[in-house]
Amino acid sequence: MKEALVTAVNDQINAELESAYLYLAMSARMEERNLPGLARWLKIQWEEEIAHAMKFYDFLIQRDAHVSLKAIAQPEATFDSPLEAFRMVLEHERHITSRIWELSELAADESDYALQSLLKWFVDEQVEEEDNARAAIDALSLVGDSGPGLFLFDREMGARTDAGQAAAE
Ligand SMILES: [Fe+2]
Repeated sequence: MKEALVTAVNDQINAELESAYLYLAMSARMEERNLPGLARWLKIQWEEEIAHAMKFYDFLIQRDAHVSLKAIAQPEATFDSPLEAFRMVLEHERHITSRIWELSELAADESDYALQSLLKWFVDEQVEEEDNARAAIDALSLVGDSGPGLFLFDREMGARTDAGQAAAE
């Protein structure tokens, strides 16, 4: 693999692990707010981000390229309401999408068809991630930040069973 691509994929491993860390911190904040469903949803999201990092990790190993793990930044997981939290999720996922697209452009420039093939999955995944965040924002905009609506929404989000399946859909 070309060196520039190995560096870029290692950076993306770091970005996915930072995403995982952010969602785990947000999950803890939801527990403090007595919203176990949202906490659970975010914890599953944490697992999903680790799986994303591992997809890139395994790819580098398979391609006989050097894995270089970097420091994971302290997450900024402060929000005033569940609605604000999911606006943060959407903003973060948009940032990840732009990273994936840049990486796709680089892979195309360097004619690395194997990396392009892997990134195709991530391009599709990001469409789903942004859609899930938007669905949660729409629901929270309707139900508000307290009362029976939030109670029911929290329960619905808590029904998410595994990585990749969002109760917000
Ligand atoms: Fe991700």
